[in-house]
Amino acid sequence: MKKQLIAGNWKMNGSLAANEALLKDLLAGLNAPVCQIAVCVPAVYLTQCQKQLAGSAIDVGAQDVSAHESGAFTGENSAAMLKDLGVRYAIVGHSERRQYHAETDAVVAVKAQRALAAGITPIVCVGETLQEREAGKTEEVVKRQLAAVIHLNGHCISEIVVAYEPVWAIGTGKTASPEQAQAVHALLRAQLQAATSHADRIQIVYGGSMNAANAAQLLAQPDIDGGLVGGASLKAPDFLTIIAAAQ
Ligand code: PGA
Repeated sequence: MKKQLIAGNWKMNGSLAANEALLKDLLAGLNAPVCQIAVCVPAVYLTQCQKQLAGSAIDVGAQDVSAHESGAFTGENSAAMLKDLGVRYAIVGHSERRQYHAETDAVVAVKAQRALAAGITPIVCVGETLQEREAGKTEEVVKRQLAAVIHLNGHCISEIVVAYEPVWAIGTGKTASPEQAQAVHALLRAQLQAATSHADRIQIVYGGSMNAANAAQLLAQPDIDGGLVGGASLKAPDFLTIIAAAQ
């Protein structure tokens, strides 16, 4: 059976001292985890985290990757550079990147392609805004976002992780109910099934105010294969509780 994946998304938080303390507490508190675990950290801290987590059950991920291979793209980090640092995952298409950095579905698809080509697993985020949900457009939006990635990466689509992150649930304390999340995950699974015979082994994780109190119920849903955890991944006891709730 495929394992669940619990990935922390630290966003733009941390410092050398705070990261060291957080990782120390996580490593000390891990109790024979049955799931896969990752922390997606700011690029400047990838080396620090990679060193501290070497040989542990926790993998390191980036929060973004350039859509370009190399060259005159000031400020960007290529997939090859991330691979060089031992990065296993890269979040692509997070709603904050779509919103504040104008990332389109097409750009997100290319980012996923760059990651895959470098041997990095892209965690492809999809999700509707509150306005889109209220207009009955959830299915249309998430399918459009995933379709762009499938279209460009169909041959290796079973190598991606999908994160369903309803925008209205991110950082707001409003979580999708387990039933609401499961319904969207089932739609995404069906879309992947149409693209690959290996859809069942693709991890579709949920993100959006997942916390120590609600994780177990969300993770018990048949098509929820883990979590992408923002705020709660910055507190070791909370993140450890979520890890313990995973299967
Ligand atoms: P949150 O963030 O858990 O703080 O809502 C999740 C995410 O944005 O990945």
